[in-house]
Amino acid sequence: MTQASFPALRLRRTRASAWSRALVAETHLSPAHLIWPLFVTEGQGVTDPVKTLPGVSRHSIDRIGAVAKEAKALGIGCLALFPNTPRDLRTHDGREALNPDNLMCRAIRAIKDAVPDIGVLTDVALDPYTSHGHDGLVDATGYVLNDETSELLVAQALVQAEAGADIVAPSDMMDGRVGAIRAALEAGGHRNVQIMAYSAKYASAFYGPFRDAVGSGGLLKGDKRAYQMDYANAEEALREVALDLAEGADSVMVKPGLPYLDIIRRVKERFEVPVFAYQVSGEYAMIEAAVAAGAGDRDALVLEALTAFRRAGCSGILTYHAAHAARLLAG
Ligand code: PBG
Repeated sequence: MTQASFPALRLRRTRASAWSRALVAETHLSPAHLIWPLFVTEGQGVTDPVKTLPGVSRHSIDRIGAVAKEAKALGIGCLALFPNTPRDLRTHDGREALNPDNLMCRAIRAIKDAVPDIGVLTDVALDPYTSHGHDGLVDATGYVLNDETSELLVAQALVQAEAGADIVAPSDMMDGRVGAIRAALEAGGHRNVQIMAYSAKYASAFYGPFRDAVGSGGLLKGDKRAYQMDYANAEEALREVALDLAEGADSVMVKPGLPYLDIIRRVKERFEVPVFAYQVSGEYAMIEAAVAAGAGDRDALVLEALTAFRRAGCSGILTYHAAHAARLLAG
């Protein structure tokens, strides 16, 4: 490419006014690109703040419809649901995940009743339902069993699809579960239920506040490094994505978000499929901590971070700042 050089070329010319900057902007962010993660809890009339996530609450089922209406009014296209299962329903095998009347399924139905045309994404993994906080079945040595867990995840995904989930999102990192879930959805008549695979999910220190929100943090024995990815690796993320796409994933996710923009970019360039990022709880908490410390402006930090995901190649972003960002984008 031939380029003029200075002074014929002054890159600052197009930056000199707001209208001009808007004309040449290469990346756009709109509320339609945002997926809003919501925490649900038992009880009536409950809005229960999550201590480590200032501004984020767990909602009881009777209140979740109103939250969905708010999201719809803001132009947010999809909600992601996470249950804070009562302690006494958490077991070694996480069987509450398969109960068609569990918190998750009731929340899906309440949202679909309130706002039929908003997307509902559900997390497929056992951690909100197990007494040990792991995403799957654990053997006597503490190892999470792959194939046995996968069978349960298939059943869990079907229960969620029956309840009305539009996108099931396996976040467990078991090998082979995307193919197994796809086959079961096809056989069960759920042909249009999408799979968004948490393909490149890293064993991360940024998930702390989430585990607090779903109540699994205090229960977790050990760590998740025998199934979630090592943050030293990028090629392995590409192999995970290739496998999940071959097994029938409709879209893939990279998680956490901002420290992994290189992975997002490589996945997008290599596979040319819809890629999503999860700006996780610890990232949200860092922004809020910076704001509380007077070290940054919330609105500016939020819009810059979310636009960076789009620039890196994301179709959309799961973010706890979704409602706030949507309000800012509405002007
Ligand atoms: C559970 C799950 C986790 C998150 C989403 N799904 C936690 C984990 O893997 O321990 C984290 C999301 C966040 O931190 O915001 N499988």
